[in-house]
Amino acid sequence: MTDRYDAMIMGAGAAGMMCAMRAGQRGKRVLVIEKTAKPGAKILISGGGRCNFTNIHTAPDRFLSANPHFVKSALSRYTARDFLSLVEAHGIEWHEKTLGQLFCDGSARQIVDMLVDEVERAGGTFALGQDIASISHDGENYAAQTQDGIFTAPKLVIATGGPSIPKMGATGFAYDLARQFGLKVVEPRPALVPLTLKGEDLLFRELSGVSSDVTAIAGKTRFREAALFTHRGLSGPAILQISSYWRPGESIAIDFFPDRPADWLLTAKREQPRRMFRNLLAEALPERLAAVLAEKLELDGPLQELADKRLRAAQERLARWPFTPSGSEGFAKAEVTIGGIATAELSSQTMESKKRPGLYAIGEAVDVTGWLGGYNFQWAWASGYACGEAI
Ligand code: FDA
Repeated sequence: MTDRYDAMIMGAGAAGMMCAMRAGQRGKRVLVIEKTAKPGAKILISGGGRCNFTNIHTAPDRFLSANPHFVKSALSRYTARDFLSLVEAHGIEWHEKTLGQLFCDGSARQIVDMLVDEVERAGGTFALGQDIASISHDGENYAAQTQDGIFTAPKLVIATGGPSIPKMGATGFAYDLARQFGLKVVEPRPALVPLTLKGEDLLFRELSGVSSDVTAIAGKTRFREAALFTHRGLSGPAILQISSYWRPGESIAIDFFPDRPADWLLTAKREQPRRMFRNLLAEALPERLAAVLAEKLELDGPLQELADKRLRAAQERLARWPFTPSGSEGFAKAEVTIGGIATAELSSQTMESKKRPGLYAIGEAVDVTGWLGGYNFQWAWASGYACGEAI
């Protein structure tokens, strides 16, 4: 089979389908080439099956990229409100869970069905289950060779995502393709990922299953959310968020009492001198966690028997408890990838390569990573839309 299109979009994920929808609406003939048999696999497993499809607090400072300004144009031209209007136009019921995170009431399947419907309504074509053997460019057209034949188009959009969750078939295909055409790639690494503990921190692994509201800290970045101890180390939203800012070898810190004033242990000693130290910690923390922290601090007994100096040191440690993760759980467990096709290679207006006219990259394949909470989909929608306006 040999076919001609205005543009070929590689990958029927969040970004690819949004791009196809918008380009189709503009009268462009687009082909979405997808490796797997069904579109939108990551959308289906997202948000625990309910898809946290956007965040109403979307703003450029919620994204990590070598160029933090890169996201501004696309995010301002396709907003969380725009995506919500699309969701509502399809009659999909939704709710805000917490921190501006919007989820389907029903299932993530509704978002996939909505996108497929929009692409088809706009005249787009899907080629599913395609094994891409090669992509070439003859100076005018891009050609994709698959088991079904050769597809050609003057424009090619890389929307194949990042390598997180390889068991779903995710690979670094986008980066290989970008490099093939001379585009630079910022070293990819796992993000929004649980961190592992070893050595001195092993005691905390005994707390597997215990969770607590904390502030996780890496450098100047802080996230106030729940942290969860696991049999391998640390997880939960606060840790997933901070993992994006953590580099191997660095330490992070946890404030176990983010709501307490600086001198709270000394105040408690004055006001409740007979209170047992461990019980005081357990007022705000799960009992097992309070016991481990008291043990690590080597503080026990009634507050009146504990010297002010030791309580002061304990206050400081509890507000900035250091952990040096031995690593992360890697791409196997990472929700997204940090790094990717360098933003310096792309126009922030159109997502087109500056060196290679006709070549575009969108979504997770690009060096843009959002916080946890619907921001990554909003980037996929916004970058897909910007590209769909341009191709
Ligand atoms: P995406 O991965 O969606 O799509 C890429 C497509 O390209 C896939 O269909 C893939 O099969 C295809 N492909 C890959 N290689 C190919 C090849 N060689 N040829 C052809 N096709 C190829 N984000 C968020 O905002 N809210 C949330 O609730 C969640 N939840 C969540 C849960 C879990 C478990 C994960 C792993 C991730 C999330 N995310 C999330 C992140 C979100 O899923 C991610 O940011 C987007 O799916 C990225 O969209 P893309 O379209 O860029 O890639």
